[in-house]
Amino acid sequence: MTRLVQDLTAPDAARRIADALIERRISVGVLVNNAGFGTCGRFEEIDARREHDQLMVNVVALVDLTHALLPGMLAQGSGAVLNVGSTAGYQPGPYFAAYSAAKTFVLNFSLALHQEYRGRGIRVTAVCPGPVETAFFETLGTRRAAIGSFTTPERVVRAALRALAAGRAYVTPGLGNALSAQLTPRRPRTLVAAIAKRVTRGVLVPDTDHAAPAPERTAA
Ligand SMILES: NC(=O)c1ccc[n+]([C@@H]2O[C@H](COP(=O)([O-])OP(=O)(O)OC[C@H]3O[C@@H](n4cnc5c(N)ncnc54)[C@H](OP(=O)(O)O)[C@@H]3O)[C@@H](O)[C@H]2O)c1
Repeated sequence: MTRLVQDLTAPDAARRIADALIERRISVGVLVNNAGFGTCGRFEEIDARREHDQLMVNVVALVDLTHALLPGMLAQGSGAVLNVGSTAGYQPGPYFAAYSAAKTFVLNFSLALHQEYRGRGIRVTAVCPGPVETAFFETLGTRRAAIGSFTTPERVVRAALRALAAGRAYVTPGLGNALSAQLTPRRPRTLVAAIAKRVTRGVLVPDTDHAAPAPERTAA
């Protein structure tokens, strides 16, 4: 197995990965854009650098990697892109403003590419989970950000792979999450944002038990 380590906050991260793959003569059949982390709190109190990095990983690297690897899939006549969104992307997220907007981007980007590549041998699917038992909330610094009940990474992966195999544009694992995802867009946007604020303002309460420093990385 080949392992490439790359800090996806770097502007040229996708290019470096693509170059390394070419050098090692590796063609990619399935791109899983999973890397990501969240930011939350009052917008003015969120570290601007951390927010910038969040957007670099969750949005810019995802687009850049897709740009870098999708042409090779087209040349092979088949391939798949699985993007990891979030239920946070189904509505505006007060106190998660940039993270939830990033996940809205992931969903809409995926839905658009799904349409573009239908019938051209490339599947594009977004998986949009609710809370999952991973290191996500430790990195975020609070479990109060978890809206809804937790599921396991295995369940999310199974749902994602089933959706990809079935050629679905997106999937929301968990019945409660899926229902909420279907109902949210049918309400006025400003009302949705106001309701979301009532749900998400819990993150403003300090949760020092789970505060964690940003991880250090070494670029490949
Ligand atoms: N957990 C949830 O409740 C939840 C819910 C909805 C959506 N999601 C999404 O699921 C995805 C995976 O998160 P997770 O739940 O598995 O959290 P996690 O356990 O904290 O894993 C985060 C992943 O992102 C990678 N990553 C973070 N910053 C990176 C950087 N600068 N460069 C390269 N890789 C970086 C990490 O790599 P290392 O292992 O090398 O650190 C790790 O593989 C994210 O996109 C997240 O937004 C999570």
